[in-house]
Formats: sequence, C-alpha cells, structure tokens
Amino acid sequence: MIKQYTIVANFKMNMNHIEVVSYTQKLAIKLAQRNNKNIELVLIPSFTNLRSLQVLSNCEKLYITYGAQNISPYSNGAYTGAISGKMLSALGCSYVIIGHSETRILEANYGYKELESKIDQSYASNLIPIICFGDNKEMRENNKYILHLSEELKILNNILQKYPDNKYILAYEPLWAINTGVVATNKEIEEVSLLVNKLIRDPYLIYGGSVNEYNINDIKNIKGVSGVLVGKSSLDVDKLYKIACNYMDLV
Ligand code: PGA
Repeated sequence: MIKQYTIVANFKMNMNHIEVVSYTQKLAIKLAQRNNKNIELVLIPSFTNLRSLQVLSNCEKLYITYGAQNISPYSNGAYTGAISGKMLSALGCSYVIIGHSETRILEANYGYKELESKIDQSYASNLIPIICFGDNKEMRENNKYILHLSEELKILNNILQKYPDNKYILAYEPLWAINTGVVATNKEIEEVSLLVNKLIRDPYLIYGGSVNEYNINDIKNIKGVSGVLVGKSSLDVDKLYKIACNYMDLV
C-alpha cells in the first residue's frame, strides 16, 4: 500500500554500509517520536548497503522502507555488473528507482524499450517502481518541454496500462533542477502535475530536484504532489528528518 505521502532519499554514490546503518538508526529514533502513519520514508542507498539495511530492519522496528537505485532490464544471465529484480527483493527492497537521469547517462542503450523492461522486471519481483521523467534546460529554453513531457508520459501510460492493479510512483525530475540548487517553482511543478493528471490514469506524483529543508515549505503544498525525492539534502539525517516533518504536520 502506498501511503498518503512518500519521501524518497536517494543517497546516490555516497556513504558505505557502516555509515548507512548509523544514519538509519538515528533516523529511526527520531521518527519513533512522531506520528508517521501516513508517511512512507524510503531510503535508497547503493547496492552494497542493502544487505546491512535488511539485517538492521530484521532486528529493529524501523519506520523506514528501502529500495535500490536501479534494476537490470533482464531477469538473469550474462550481464556483468547488473543487478536483477529478484536479487533486490531477496534483499528486502520494496522500491526501485527506474530511469533516473544520472543512470540513463551511464546506460548506452537506454530507451523506452529498456524502460518498459525495467518496469516489467520490477513488477515480476514485487518491487514498486519509482519512475523518473523530466525535461532538460534546452527543452525549457526552446519551449519544447510540454511536447517532450507529453511524449514521455503517453509512453509511460501505455506501459502502465499492462498493470492496472499495480502501484507505482512517478517522480517529476527536471534535469535542470537536479543537483544544481535551482528548484522548480510551484507554478512549474503544478503545470506538470496537471499534465500528468491528463495523461496518466490515477497518478501518484512526487517531485525531485534540489529539494531542501527550506523550500519544502512551499513544495509540500502543491496540489497533486504527494511527496519528494531528495538527493543531496538527504545525506544529512537532520535535514531529511526536517523535510519529513513538514509532511507529518500536514496529516
Ligand atoms: P538533488 O537530487 O536533490 O541533489 O538535486 C535529486 C535527485 O536525485 O533527483
């Protein structure tokens, strides 16, 4: 079940397993003091840290779920360096990020076919996909972003229609806002939220791109946006907690 609000902490290539365990323990202690029934906090560390999170969550009651930063479009086989959905679910993952712009750049063959295969693989392993989509600076400047986003969303809608009963999270991640310190305005996010509602059946949308403990004050109030994907600011446990508190105050 997806909760009313979801906060995804994407650690990217930061923190080793010892650091992630200590981070998670600190966060869990803070969360236990608040009513967080309607908030899902999803930690997304590097693959190498997932087993440690699994052991930790088997031993302690955490108010946290976790997932992976990527998934192979294949189920198994001779794909050196790749990680399958089955491996992730065996590690207790509930979520997987699909199509983050930083992974797309690294994958030479990335296209809509691979996107579809990754969604297929995540559902085959009972993982909820967090599907990233977005426009880049050039598209914005040339006023082509609506065209691009509409195409991406229509294709996604076709893929998701194969799974009418499955949960998913769509993350609007404008490339010009990721790791730049430039956050999209409420108006810009609202415009995309309206487009998503037009093109996708029953969407669950979150926003990602330079979210921090200050701008969350505005972002949390955007209609149709049910949470955030946080990169850099999530590396500081106090900042992530402050961001989460904003949503706890809403419910
Ligand atoms: P950022 O990253 O918060 O550091 O901009 C966001 C993301 O990973 O999408």
